Amino acid sequence: MRQVYLSQIAEYEGQGVTIKGWLQNRRAVGKLQFLMVRDGTGVIQVVVSEAEVGKDVLEIVDHLGQESSLIVTGTVRGDRRAPGGFEMTATGVEVIQNAQGYPITPKEHKSPFLLDHRHLWLRSSKQRAILKIRAEVIRALRDFFDSREFTLLDAPILSGAACEGTSTLFGTEYFGEKAYLTQSGQLYQEAGIMAFGKVYCFGPTFRAEKSKTRRHLTEFWMLEPEVAYADLDDIMVLAEEMVAAVVSRVLETRRQDLDILGRDTAALERVTAPFPRITYTEAVERLRAAGHDFEWGRDFGGDEETVLASQFEKPVMVHRYPLECKAFYMTQDPEDERLALCVDVLAPEGYGEIIGGSQRLDDLATLEDRIAKHDLPKEAFEWYLDLRRYGTVPHSGYGIGLERTVAWICGIKHLREAIPFPRLINRLYP
Ligand code: 4AD
Ligand code: MG
Repeated sequence: MRQVYLSQIAEYEGQGVTIKGWLQNRRAVGKLQFLMVRDGTGVIQVVVSEAEVGKDVLEIVDHLGQESSLIVTGTVRGDRRAPGGFEMTATGVEVIQNAQGYPITPKEHKSPFLLDHRHLWLRSSKQRAILKIRAEVIRALRDFFDSREFTLLDAPILSGAACEGTSTLFGTEYFGEKAYLTQSGQLYQEAGIMAFGKVYCFGPTFRAEKSKTRRHLTEFWMLEPEVAYADLDDIMVLAEEMVAAVVSRVLETRRQDLDILGRDTAALERVTAPFPRITYTEAVERLRAAGHDFEWGRDFGGDEETVLASQFEKPVMVHRYPLECKAFYMTQDPEDERLALCVDVLAPEGYGEIIGGSQRLDDLATLEDRIAKHDLPKEAFEWYLDLRRYGTVPHSGYGIGLERTVAWICGIKHLREAIPFPRLINRLYP
């Protein structure tokens, strides 16, 4: 019998096929067994009757536990009531393993339990929907940059210096030297643009975040474009076009998964370029108007971002934060020396920051000054300073956090479900 995947089942209506998968759920109605079988591309209801499979097989099926692995042969039938529109009448069931005592049952479980069983939890329909959307977001991001002649330039994971401040570095010993897990590939992308003009990297990045929040992972994935001769405005346009393209792709290809998650897709349909732009100073005024006592000069935390992001239907771009609260590599605003030429993109519906970017300092002397001011070890940045010695140009770039973006698009509360195996302050397993 022809082996097929459930994603293609519609092509086989009325025909006999074989599917290979796992038993998601089973119920008996009289002498019939109804199996929900999942094969990774879809789920189908399989009807097993004694008349078709014989008494012995029916008896075996009657004792199958959840997540048993099976090969089912049968006839595909169109059925408007069935999820997906098709069901199968089994003519044979081969049991690869009768699994007993699967810990995740269809009842509700608490999140620590589910996280302890993440290796199994991945099989649940909502988790599969989220991770399918994650895969599509990655594909859409890469397509966006590849189609615009950006060159993919992988950044190293092991690094000798901090990019985003020294307080969140993971250190490790490197043949007698100190090394760190990368916080960002940005500095390497800045080297890349002098060779390729437009580059991006996409990979895991690490932050020893000591706070427990729903928006922080210690290991997360970031895509970072960098563009030579681009100013802050240029990358703001790039960022909004990118976000709009990604959301539109997910709406186009993963609607079923969004439905499984119960996502309000109307909110996603509104995500079209251009996005609203406000300055940091305007953002502070908005916070105060909303009754929050906020001091000009501080960086926004999750709570402030939630308030701001709730005031807009689209992602909002907050630009020109105080230089004080931002990383060492940002250019000063020539119109106001207190400000940095930088932007954060806050996702709506209260989600908050998904992108951080800036125009980079391109002048050697100022950069040397800044490195000293931030108390960073100059030796570790000698190679980076070379980029200002040999053919420096104005340039800008940003980083988009994958899990934050996926959590927002999926409408889920916590970042830990937006990555296959989350790493959190108190979680290294599974
Ligand atoms: O704003 P961040 O720290 O910016 C940078 O790392 C720059 N070097 C990027 C660049 O300009 N090339 O981080 C960028 C994004 C944030 O907006 C957020 O989406 C995500 O990375 N992010 C995190 N995601 C999950 N867990 C964490 N602990 C994160 N920290 C940052
Ligand atoms: Mg940031």
